[in-house]
Amino acid sequence: MKKIVVLTGAGISAESGIRTFRDSDGLWEEYRIEDVATFEAWLRNPALVQDFYNQRRKQLYEVEPNAAHYALVELEKKFEVQIITQNVDDLHERAGSANVLHLHGELKKSRSTIDPYLVYDIKGWELKMGDKCEKGSQLRPHIVWFGEEVPMIVPAAKLSAMAGIFIVIGTSLNVYPAAGLIHEAPYSGTKYLVDPNDCRVSHIPNLTFIKEKAGSGVPKLVEKLMAKSC
Ligand code: OAD
Repeated sequence: MKKIVVLTGAGISAESGIRTFRDSDGLWEEYRIEDVATFEAWLRNPALVQDFYNQRRKQLYEVEPNAAHYALVELEKKFEVQIITQNVDDLHERAGSANVLHLHGELKKSRSTIDPYLVYDIKGWELKMGDKCEKGSQLRPHIVWFGEEVPMIVPAAKLSAMAGIFIVIGTSLNVYPAAGLIHEAPYSGTKYLVDPNDCRVSHIPNLTFIKEKAGSGVPKLVEKLMAKSC
């Protein structure tokens, strides 16, 4: 069975109603990364950081996967599919994708501030100051903040290197190391990119750019791949 690796970013969840980060109406237009998405921000004003992620989590309970998430599940009928997502939402899982690797953490989880291996499911949308891990330290959002290490990048790079087909959906490819994964995919392998806006990918060999929103572009691409003999 041919292996397909799919790298997704905020754009795949945009049509579900989750804001991207760097588009004109993106989250980083309203908030400063330095205030809500760094460890220094957490040390300075943990309540503000908690509130930012609580709002994101609350919204996650109000949205649903869209046609792009569901189309990727369809692909599993014919291919071995590995999703590598930069998104902290759970829309791939809720659509039914079997193999999802989260590079930047998961909104619905918390982790200990003294032991990174202590990770918990958050019950409901709110993580509060005073919520503690079993070792007694404050719980923080299970999110990879700017400047922090990305523990899942090593397995993600290994998986990318095994891709027969590499698909990129809805990411500005601005944030490393995630943006570098496309270079881990086999040089001569087939690659697709789905995004309604121009992307900095002209230098990538064997890449087909589908300049469409994920909700329409991904189902079309999936239909094409399903129709091909492999
Ligand atoms: P960005 O906001 O940087 O990029 C979103 C991409 O989605 C852009 O290329 C848009 O053109 C595209 N897009 C917008 N609407 C779309 C749609 N309907 N269908 C398909 N594509 C669409 O988001 P990411 O690249 O995911 O990290 O950002 C990477 C990381 O930066 C995030 O994981 C987050 C952020 O800061 C952390 O918070 C650690």
